[in-house]
Amino acid sequence: MKNIVILISGRGSNMEAIVAAQAAERWPARIAAVVSSRPEADGLAFAQSHGIPTAVVDHREYPDREQFDTVLRQTIDGFAPDLVVLAGFMRVLTPAFVAHYAQRMVNVHPSLLPSFPGLKTHQRALEAGVKLHGATIHFVTADLDLGPIVLQGVVPVKAGDDPETLRQRVLAVEHQIYPRAVRWFVEDRLSVAGGLASLTPPEPQWWFATEQA
Ligand code: GAR
Repeated sequence: MKNIVILISGRGSNMEAIVAAQAAERWPARIAAVVSSRPEADGLAFAQSHGIPTAVVDHREYPDREQFDTVLRQTIDGFAPDLVVLAGFMRVLTPAFVAHYAQRMVNVHPSLLPSFPGLKTHQRALEAGVKLHGATIHFVTADLDLGPIVLQGVVPVKAGDDPETLRQRVLAVEHQIYPRAVRWFVEDRLSVAGGLASLTPPEPQWWFATEQA
């Protein structure tokens, strides 16, 4: 049985998707806690209503990133995590924090990495005129948004899209791919070598959204 700690900063819809998939598919895992960097994060209420322990480490209470990360790490480690899941966690983490969870921390990023790391990914994708966009689940390394890629979900960019319509289409794919990637970790199917993440036994590490998505 693996312990999963999910970190959020806001809405927490990816956290909800993971909680729902774990409950429906009965992976050998437990959502040990949901930790938020903001006390007003909407996702906290969902976690509490599902009997999941919650904690808040409010980044505004710490003078610098190092002190915030130290308390955050202590809080997470209090739940003995096998896997830390960043689900819309909008803080840049220190190298020491990232190293502490090496190969046991994953993130969702709303683009097909290595395209469009950072913020405003949907707007930048539209400005670049790409015809495919999507989301990436990756292991977290010290390079922001550039760790070994576990799974990518692809959506079309449609005529008339604006950042919001594209965001919604990508978010629906995030909800498909993130639970799947977490399940692979729980089932000990993921390995990392030479900066690449592979899956045993192999199956597609991509997901194409259906036209309705
Ligand atoms: C998601 O779209 C996720 O890809 C993005 O924040 C959103 C959180 O939504 N993450 C990042 O931009 C990280 N760089 P959620 O709170 O509803 O899961």
